[in-house]
Amino acid sequence: MRHFLHLSDLTADEIRYLLREAARLKALHRKRKDPQLLAGRVVGLVFEKPSLRTRVSFESGIAQLGGKSIFLSGAEVGLGARESIPDVARTIGQYVDAVVLRVFSHATVEIFANHADCPVVNGLSDYNHPCQALGDLLTIQEVFGDLEGRTVVFVGDGNNVARSLAIGCGKLGMRFILAAPAGYGFDESYLQQFRRLVPGGELVQNGDAAHAVREADAIYTDVWTSMGQEAEREKRQRSFARYQVNAKLLALAPAHARVMHCLPAHRGEEITDEVLDSERSVVFPQAGNRMHAQKALLAWLLDDSPRERKVAKKPKAARKSRSR
Ligand code: CP
Ligand code: NVA
Repeated sequence: MRHFLHLSDLTADEIRYLLREAARLKALHRKRKDPQLLAGRVVGLVFEKPSLRTRVSFESGIAQLGGKSIFLSGAEVGLGARESIPDVARTIGQYVDAVVLRVFSHATVEIFANHADCPVVNGLSDYNHPCQALGDLLTIQEVFGDLEGRTVVFVGDGNNVARSLAIGCGKLGMRFILAAPAGYGFDESYLQQFRRLVPGGELVQNGDAAHAVREADAIYTDVWTSMGQEAEREKRQRSFARYQVNAKLLALAPAHARVMHCLPAHRGEEITDEVLDSERSVVFPQAGNRMHAQKALLAWLLDDSPRERKVAKKPKAARKSRSR
């Protein structure tokens, strides 16, 4: 049994397999030929925080593959309040085949996974957002036809979304540049973890966003104030004011560079309408890809046949040439 709490829970080959499988499931869905890979399976979703994309993409994706989902709000379950986290995990793990958790504290998802008798998927914590990174990598692969050697420049907060994407990029031979104001970059403990998990991975911190985007294949941004940080909102707005992804910043990037955002966006703060709605933006296909990436993930986690054999299988089509 495997959990998916961090992108580093997957090897590079496993990530590549999931991306191939996600692309296959997406193509089949377009032809209305969804394989019923989750028939007879039930997935529980326990969310302490609001969500549009993660909830609907999981629930809809599970239904497409013939499975069922049960959504429970944090208030209903009262994780660690009404009942201890281990007791909830031990109980719900007997009713469902997998659990997707969205939590305030990353410790909750770790404790839950240690006590659940079924795969646990991290649907966002204050520390990371690995499902988002899977969908993002699928999107970059779709846009450019390849991933290796590409550069993602993340402009803004070194937050949960950035932490997972940096690991994913490092594992797949991509470069990740974080352009964050002082005090909002990756801390030393994360950097040590990155070096341990992705030896040789290229991770650069460059507070000068205007300089960093000159090397970008993808320019990525996210909200300046994440869920749970609302008390810091005003301070953060001041700190990040010069880190907006706008037309002036985009003009400094190579012409082929595309703009990404995990959403929800605070239009007019971290990104302007002009950029978010421009032809350079792949933000909405990116949101759509969450569903296919997560379908591949769940089908793989719940597959009873040996996973190693699947992962080892090479894609049929030869890799496309780079588009720049
Ligand atoms: N990107 C993302 O996780 O969106 P939601 O918060 O709406 O799920
Ligand atoms: N960093 C954001 C991502 C939302 C999907 C947050 O945690 O609120």
